[in-house]
Amino acid sequence: MYDVARIREDFPILSQKVNGKPLVYLDNGASAQKPRVVIDAMTRFYEEEYANVHRGLHHLSTVATGRYEAVRGIVARFLNAPDPEEIVFCTGSTEAINLISYAWAAPRMEAGDEIVLSLLEHHANIVPWHFLRERQGVVLKWVEPEADGSLDPQKMIDAIGPRTKLVAVTHMSNVLGTKVDVKAIAAGAHAKGVPVLVDGSQGAVHAPVDLRDLDVDFYAITGHKLYGPSGSGAIWIRRERMAEMRPFLGGGDMIDTVTRDTVTYAHPPMKFEAGTPGIVQQVGLGVALDYLMGLGMENVAAHEVALRDYAQARFAGLNWLNIQGNAPGKGAIFSMTITGPGHAHDVSTILDKRGIAVRAGTHCAMPLLAHYGLTATARASFGLYNTEAEVDALVDALELCHELLA
Ligand code: ALA
Repeated sequence: MYDVARIREDFPILSQKVNGKPLVYLDNGASAQKPRVVIDAMTRFYEEEYANVHRGLHHLSTVATGRYEAVRGIVARFLNAPDPEEIVFCTGSTEAINLISYAWAAPRMEAGDEIVLSLLEHHANIVPWHFLRERQGVVLKWVEPEADGSLDPQKMIDAIGPRTKLVAVTHMSNVLGTKVDVKAIAAGAHAKGVPVLVDGSQGAVHAPVDLRDLDVDFYAITGHKLYGPSGSGAIWIRRERMAEMRPFLGGGDMIDTVTRDTVTYAHPPMKFEAGTPGIVQQVGLGVALDYLMGLGMENVAAHEVALRDYAQARFAGLNWLNIQGNAPGKGAIFSMTITGPGHAHDVSTILDKRGIAVRAGTHCAMPLLAHYGLTATARASFGLYNTEAEVDALVDALELCHELLA
């Protein structure tokens, strides 16, 4: 049984008060809090096992390397990826997608070639492609969501033309909570010979991911949203795609030999991991993913679906509250505005006075907000430790916002 009260005890930060009220942390879309096991494991690693990895023959380096490399297997298990050697570590999805832009896409694309994107994308899955537009004349083809915020996979597939070299799409919108059918998109894109990159920054946090089933080409995750440390993350890259990549960052660890005149590279995945990595961060990520697998991602998903349904039922009674996106199967992410002169930043500030943390602004998704004619929303994004009582606290505080801002 999923005992949320007990699970909350695993997260030390949740027991604090903010502005004299119990903290209600609803900014999980921006970054999630960390369970004690992650915090303790990182401290213990520094205290007992820390050294650089891959470089030393001494005891601590061997221990640290073993702990660090084991995380590749944990990530692969978490995503049901075919092979840990297809996991490249990075600092998060932003670096992961930039890696693919520089290492895979840039050398393969010419002026007039296209990348198909959805309008749901986070800037991390937009700006690296803008670089290719600016520098190489690559064309960005945008597919808009439906009125309810859902994304029609067929529209993504239909946007693929003879010059399309890549489809880049999110697994879940960080603004609307829309879950995207990336499996259907990948099937249609592959039938046209086009690879698919998925930004799993939100998708992997809220439901189990089965990469063998999704059959995409690239899948990026970000550790800090997965209850792990900031600066941790990974991308799964299909072996054939990895073989097509040139190195991106150059330095130690990613080479085989270096002479005055030549360089040869390490085998993947290390070919794409230059310099001393975020050793402790990745060790912490491994502990966070083990923690999630211990809870069971299907249980986390069921808990969040129940929270979403409860929140939607409570919001339904508030006719002055506008929620962006109500696609079937959406995650427990609610971007909202209040009818009247009140700005999203005012809403966020009033909620903060009640101890409730939400994000206000454009959520790193300006094209999507522009599509809705919005300059900002307040976003409540739920996680595995949130409760129905916290939904009630949010609704009470929103009623106060309505009163003060109407
Ligand atoms: N990408 C993060 C968010 O959605 C920062 O808030």
